[in-house]
Amino acid sequence: MQNISFYHTAFVAYLEDKIQVKEPASLYDPIHYFLDLGGKRLRPLLTLMTADAFNGDYKNALNAALSIEIFHNFSLIHDDIMDDAPLRRGQPTVHEKWDVNTGILSGDAMLIIAYQLFEYYDANTFQELAKLFSKTALEVCEGQQYDMDFETRDDVSVAEYLKMIEFKTAVLVGAAMKMGAIVAGASKQDQDHVYEFGRLLGVAFQLQDDYLDAFGDPETFGKQVGGDIIENKKTYLFLKAVEFSNAEDQLELKHLFAINPSDSTDKIETAKQLFQSSGAADATRKEIEKYTQMAFSVLDELSIAEDKKNVLKEFGNDLMNRRV
Ligand code: IPE
Ligand code: IPE
Ligand code: MG
Ligand code: MG
Ligand code: MG
Repeated sequence: MQNISFYHTAFVAYLEDKIQVKEPASLYDPIHYFLDLGGKRLRPLLTLMTADAFNGDYKNALNAALSIEIFHNFSLIHDDIMDDAPLRRGQPTVHEKWDVNTGILSGDAMLIIAYQLFEYYDANTFQELAKLFSKTALEVCEGQQYDMDFETRDDVSVAEYLKMIEFKTAVLVGAAMKMGAIVAGASKQDQDHVYEFGRLLGVAFQLQDDYLDAFGDPETFGKQVGGDIIENKKTYLFLKAVEFSNAEDQLELKHLFAINPSDSTDKIETAKQLFQSSGAADATRKEIEKYTQMAFSVLDELSIAEDKKNVLKEFGNDLMNRRV
């Protein structure tokens, strides 16, 4: 197995080669714009690393990796419309730079391109990849719908929240890894275990995303800090803050997360203070650590060499400590 930056370089070179400019420009320009903004590329890296970990050739996994990344980017373009987000990776979102209709159709085209990339595989592999992809993509839609529904609810439970982030985020991380295992011809048992590793890491990843949305550095985070607070997202931070607060602070929090003021500066400040003072911020860090450790314990079940497990662990630790 290679180091993480090796897979990154290989993946980006493949993406740049594969994604060609076409007509109409008004459909394809936003796609290139968004894919060129970069991002961490964490899901395709996991696909390639997993293929290698199971003694496959990572090059055979490049189309699956690209499919996952294009699907992820499609979901972000639509997510930014749904979350009314102005910034992505430090640049204007597609619906801000163009308009909402452009974001919808360019996103739709990306979903189709993602599916098309499986055509490079033989019939059996195609079927396995397509089946996993369809199941996962539908779950992402379900997770996204829960996320939207929760904006206007004030009785969301932690269990409901965890299911929501499992669907909107974690299953795609699991699927990214399982695709690498499928392409490498790993056993069904190994495929399932690596999916579980990815799923648990994905839950930690979304908890961290929620944490950074409130406490990230606006200079480096690349997204609008406080965006989840503005949109009344019922994150782990919010749910734990309500749980840990006295009756007065509970009322304040619930009120804040039911209103949409035109200037949200005060709302963001108050919410962040309550997230800290209630202990919710610390509880979130602990939960991130917990899910990361749960993911690591699944590695014990995998029939791969210890040094390969260590590369996956290093990846997990980097995710937990990330600032972007
Ligand atoms: C953002 O994903 C959406 C979430 C599921 C949290 P990433 O944080 O992986 O986004 P990029 O691709 O690196 O920009
Ligand atoms: C996004 O969750 C999950 C999907 C796009 C499916 P968020 O809404 O938290 O992602 P960011 O913070 O905008 O990247
Ligand atoms: Mg969003
Ligand atoms: Mg969202
Ligand atoms: Mg977020």
